[in-house]
Amino acid sequence: MTRRPLVAGNWKMNGLKRSVDDLEKIIAGAERLPKVELIVCPPSTLIASFAEATRGSPVAIGGQDCHAMASGAHTGDIAAEMLKDAGAAAVIVGHSERRRDHGETDAAVRAKALAAKRAGLLAIVCVGETRAERQSGATLAVVGAQVDGSLPDDGADVVVAYEPVWAIGTGLTPTAADVAEVHSAIRRRLGSRYGHSGQGIRVLYGGSVNAANASELLGVDDVDGALVGGASLKPAEFLAIAGFYR
Ligand code: PGA
Repeated sequence: MTRRPLVAGNWKMNGLKRSVDDLEKIIAGAERLPKVELIVCPPSTLIASFAEATRGSPVAIGGQDCHAMASGAHTGDIAAEMLKDAGAAAVIVGHSERRRDHGETDAAVRAKALAAKRAGLLAIVCVGETRAERQSGATLAVVGAQVDGSLPDDGADVVVAYEPVWAIGTGLTPTAADVAEVHSAIRRRLGSRYGHSGQGIRVLYGGSVNAANASELLGVDDVDGALVGGASLKPAEFLAIAGFYR
């Protein structure tokens, strides 16, 4: 089954109204990259204006988190339905910074992924091992358990992002062989859980992807794109990464 590559930019807690200038550059560059799907995930304050700015363009907008419930007394949280209403098409759930800073468990992440589906959003579900887990040889067990626990039983409209925690924001990346090992293990797991439809689930790599290492990391078998943090804040660099799929 062929899977359309996806490159998503996770802006994290960065971006102000004037950042629409960067978005415009990404939109202009995206017109020349028809083979790759591009999603920009700005902070929630910018979702509505960015969705408006990207209307009719090849770039879609995503959130960085959502609550599991559709509404209610949850001060400071945002429902998937609200992201959808603001014009988002996707949402990242279970990013390691959310798992770490907000104590999100696999069960909580799964509930958020289900909320995304309920609202009609693509859920980008993040998994990845810590440095200690890698050093102790537990990577495949840890990532496998996260995939099992964080994904909904219906695998439609789900993307997995494999992001080794120790590679995020550090400039460190796994070797191509290590990426290949984890991605093929995830792919096998998706196949056994979802059968044929599991073959359609895209598995992105994330963690210190930049223009210089994109071709090595994105060229690995079973890597269907990237979730990009720091480098996604620079339009030219983000487009250079996506340009792997030229
Ligand atoms: P990074 O972040 O590209 O800055 O390492 C990736 C991510 O956290 O999604």
